[in-house]
Amino acid sequence: MKIIITKDYEELSAKAFEVMKETVVSNPYAVLGLATGTTPLGLYRYMIEDYNSHGTSYAHIRTVNLDEYKGLSKDHPQSYAYFMRENLFRHLDIEASNTYIENGTAQDEQAECGRYNKLLEEMPRDIQLLGLGSNGHIAFNEPNTPFGSATHVVDLTENTIKDNARLFSDISDVPKKAFTMGIKQIMRAKQILILASSKNKADAVYNMVHGKVTEEVPASVLQLHPNCILIADREAASRL
Ligand code: F6R
Repeated sequence: MKIIITKDYEELSAKAFEVMKETVVSNPYAVLGLATGTTPLGLYRYMIEDYNSHGTSYAHIRTVNLDEYKGLSKDHPQSYAYFMRENLFRHLDIEASNTYIENGTAQDEQAECGRYNKLLEEMPRDIQLLGLGSNGHIAFNEPNTPFGSATHVVDLTENTIKDNARLFSDISDVPKKAFTMGIKQIMRAKQILILASSKNKADAVYNMVHGKVTEEVPASVLQLHPNCILIADREAASRL
């Protein structure tokens, strides 16, 4: 794992943007695996600024997202589909039909997971962006998810529900289940870019980088990926 430590979140976002831009410019038909959450927001801001000032085109880019809350429609303001539209897609020249995410309102969970697995097979990702859960999760693969897992529905842990409550008006509004891409599929991306910011990620960063590779810490599997970059700010990297 290549590790880049930055002085703060702003520098982290700028460095992440350099990696993402390189991917998009070197292959205008690239497939980007994208993430939601607070951490990638700075990177997305840089991508939008760059599109506005330099016209970097996303017209042929396709994206696949990691996860979606179960029960939320793509127009629900807390859904990840809505998040991606508002924070990135609607500001770029990307085709909405080239952006993929699990359908949170799918009635048949198995069929939806099967559909997404097939899509992931057909669209190998050039880069997979990840955030890091404070409990070491990647996407919504919580501790003790098998490394061989494909797309599945998860019961979110109390810890994750608490972490995500800041984005809802009340903790009771946070969905208890989500669709998530599996660990096996994350590992199939040609390159992985994982971002970690702030003090509450310090233990997870330490365990991911220096801990044993174990399903108890899902992110520890990234030690086995041949082309993984971690960009962490000083606080998140404070235990390294
Ligand atoms: C989001 C996702 C999650 C987040 C993680 C960190 O699509 O899959 O694994 O990346 O929970 O979230 P933030 O960035 O909000 O700290």
